[in-house]
Amino acid sequence: MKTYLVTGGAGFIGSNFIHYMFKKHGDSIRIINLDALTYAGNLGNLEDIAGKENYTFVKADIRDGKAVRKIFAENEIDVVVHFAAESHVDRSIRTPEVFVETNVLGTCIMLNAAKEAWEKEDGSFPEGKKFLHVSTDEVYGSLSDPNDYFYETTPYSPHSPYSASKASSDLLVKAYVDTYHFPANITNCSNNYGPYQFPEKLIPLIINNALHGKKLPVYGDGKNVRDWLFVEDHCKGIDMVIENGKLGETYNIGGHNEKQNIEIIGIILDTLQDLLPEDDERRKNISRDLITFVEDRKGHDRRYAIAPDKIKADLGWEPDTMFAEGIRKTIEWYLENEAWMDQVTSGDYQSYYSRMYNV
Ligand code: NAD
Ligand code: TYD
Repeated sequence: MKTYLVTGGAGFIGSNFIHYMFKKHGDSIRIINLDALTYAGNLGNLEDIAGKENYTFVKADIRDGKAVRKIFAENEIDVVVHFAAESHVDRSIRTPEVFVETNVLGTCIMLNAAKEAWEKEDGSFPEGKKFLHVSTDEVYGSLSDPNDYFYETTPYSPHSPYSASKASSDLLVKAYVDTYHFPANITNCSNNYGPYQFPEKLIPLIINNALHGKKLPVYGDGKNVRDWLFVEDHCKGIDMVIENGKLGETYNIGGHNEKQNIEIIGIILDTLQDLLPEDDERRKNISRDLITFVEDRKGHDRRYAIAPDKIKADLGWEPDTMFAEGIRKTIEWYLENEAWMDQVTSGDYQSYYSRMYNV
């Protein structure tokens, strides 16, 4: 039975990935979820599988070498899927150090623990072992030519402390590949959306604010472009890279779905109007009048867009869910899971929101 160590499995993409893997592979796999449960981690995302025999949760910090090594000592790990990270650009602008500690040092500790556990006496690594490092397209910087895309060969040019920390962690993984022939892959993905995303990120924040009749904060002119990918399609890509990705290679994952932020907000408002029942009181507050242009994010990247040619050609990956369907499914999920939203926006979220948006 293949054993996966998933870091950050209680976060947005990690919890979707764990659900995806059990749905796809059934009980032929075992998953250990290592997560420190920061503000972004929520075990409620995995309630339905908490009791499964082939699923274990370990509360630990990736910066804690002793705790990480203990997991490798007690389990025969085949694949590490490394999601754990500080993931929000706005937070990185306020507190960059924690991004360096978790994303750079934490990744180094994970790499080292896997190397120590897997390396044979002659310095080689057994067949079947793999460390998959999950990264972002933000490492490539911002595109100014409208006909340009991010390829695996695009030079790194990160601008935010978040993307700089992710770029550093990617380079560490590449250094392990080059120095030790360490069995790893890197995936660089575009912006994800879907269920369980924390409402500090654009899409769930807009859904939540609109439902509460609150202002919808748009940074700058609202024309920054992101390339949105339904989270399940990202999970499918990661699974394919684990199965068939050539060791040492990087794969970009994105579904050619570029949209300006202001367009996304319009689509969310229209979809909410469409999905909420006729007699739902909230409908009358949901309108474009809520849109409020606020001060731009410092160093705000203008456009991200992935060229997924390599993962398509080499591994046959394609997205299954087009944006119109994915955003509808996502909004339906948030409407059906208002208790989840209430829980994650209680406590610390309120003070984060007031500090961030000056309200
Ligand atoms: P998230 O913020 O929702 O979740 C991060 C998870 O990591 C949380 O469960 C948190 O508790 C855990 N974590 C944080 N610090 C930790 C530590 N020191 N030790 C152990 N666990 C810790 O993030 P996400 O959006 O699910 O992103 C997951 C990964 O995917 C990240 O590496 C991110 O850079 C990358 N990524 C995200 C996107 C996106 O659109 N969300 C796009 C491309 C790549
Ligand atoms: P975000 O979801 O934070 O992802 P990222 O910065 O990693 O791409 O933001 C997506 C886009 O939405 C980005 O251009 C910033 C913008 N944005 C707003 O306009 N208002 C908001 O309140 C937030 C959170 C983001």
